[in-house]
Amino acid sequence: MNLPDLKAAKIRTKKEIKIIKNDYSVPISMKKIGKDKKYYIKTYGCQMNVHDSELLCAILEDMSFTNADSMEDADIIILNTCAIRENAHNKMFGFLGRVKHLKGTKPDIICGICGCMAQEENVVDSIKSKYKWVDIVFGTHNLHKLPFILEESIKNKKQEIEVFSIEGDIYENIPVKRDSKYKAWVNIMLGCDKFCTYCIVPYTRGKQRSRTREDIISEVNELVKNGYKEVTLLGQNVNAYGKDLNTNYTMGDLLEDTAKTGIERIRFVTSHPWDFDDKMIDIIAKYDNIMPYIHLPLQSGSDRILKLMGRRYTKEKYIELFNKIKNKIPNVSITTDIIVAFPGETEEDFLDTLEVVNTCKFDSAFTFIYSPRVGTPAASMENNLTEDEKNNRLYRLNELVNKYANETNQKYMGSIVPVLLESVSEKEDNLMGYTDTMKLVNVKADKKYIGKIINVKITDIKTWSLDGEIVD
Ligand code: 5AD
Ligand code: SF4
Repeated sequence: MNLPDLKAAKIRTKKEIKIIKNDYSVPISMKKIGKDKKYYIKTYGCQMNVHDSELLCAILEDMSFTNADSMEDADIIILNTCAIRENAHNKMFGFLGRVKHLKGTKPDIICGICGCMAQEENVVDSIKSKYKWVDIVFGTHNLHKLPFILEESIKNKKQEIEVFSIEGDIYENIPVKRDSKYKAWVNIMLGCDKFCTYCIVPYTRGKQRSRTREDIISEVNELVKNGYKEVTLLGQNVNAYGKDLNTNYTMGDLLEDTAKTGIERIRFVTSHPWDFDDKMIDIIAKYDNIMPYIHLPLQSGSDRILKLMGRRYTKEKYIELFNKIKNKIPNVSITTDIIVAFPGETEEDFLDTLEVVNTCKFDSAFTFIYSPRVGTPAASMENNLTEDEKNNRLYRLNELVNKYANETNQKYMGSIVPVLLESVSEKEDNLMGYTDTMKLVNVKADKKYIGKIINVKITDIKTWSLDGEIVD
């Protein structure tokens, strides 16, 4: 048994990061563990987790499990969890209740918990004491070891907990079963060293580790060869790509080399304003296959709160960067993340945030009430706001954000935009896809267009999406 330790997870040394290319294997004895059995994975949180679940699918299939349509149909259920806010915790424990109920009727079901919550001491303590029926727990650093952890649990008939709180290495060559045939996630870096004071990620995901450009570009080349149209380069703070490799090769260079592979669409998430340099902006502007869409988290518009958050930029610097991006990249869409009710946030601080929203008029924004995370510096800062005040700020912020999102959407009316049609949309018999600027579009079109980038005329504007029809 290995248990998480937040204090150990915080440590950053000068230790050299190892790139391990031969640590994934499923011994013959484990290849049939999943024969005639089905798996179901429930994924919470960010794209990094979504991509990790694609690895988990491939690993389970390597053990002969097949995909179940529903959790009721599964023999193994894995919850790939998110620790970013309290409500992610609550959702996962709520789902766990459903799994317990199911286990009451099908006791042989195996239940596993992995992802960021598995890296938290308080969560694992409670799984050990109150959820003894959970079979396996593993963390973000060892998901490729799932076959071994599973086998131990089956063999010993006891709860198996294997979580490591380490800076982390890079494991290459873990198999992947991608959700889409057209769009792919590609990790370019793991972990984060920014330690924003509210954020649990540097503890749950370890030290910043950039993959080598060779490994990344060869993955993208393989995707091009297999007909993929779009890649999203993934990392907690992609702009800092390469800073840990001690070379001069930066995110701008990586974007350029990715553009040269010829893949039709390149996106990247998430950017921290701190490392967003001019070279990156110039490269994005230069290559048509780098999409004019940037997610640029603001977090707060108050210099005082930004400082308490450890963000290392001011409101002025953010707006300066925002304007530079807008001026240099034609037709760019910029979205953001904003936290309200950070400890000590006054009405005046909050009004500063609204002012930045009024200045930037973001295409859209993800907005959150600050949620204290155990072990982070902000969790021990005093927060005197009542629940009503917190909700009221979120409400006022959302009203403003939605006003600008709606105004931006209105500008699309009647325009012709390229859309990568990726699947049948949830409602009606339409196809859905995204514009280059990341607007969701529902299109009346035949299924033969799935997987193609097509010009679409926008015919109607909805609150969260656009409607359109194919232009011949
Ligand atoms: N409370 C609320 N929101 C948070 N985020 C990160 N940590 C917290 C927290 N403790 C938000 C930030 C980040 C996004 C992914 O989640 O806005 O950019
Ligand atoms: Fe968290 Fe800040 Fe790192 Fe983003 S940059 S993952 S908010 S610590």
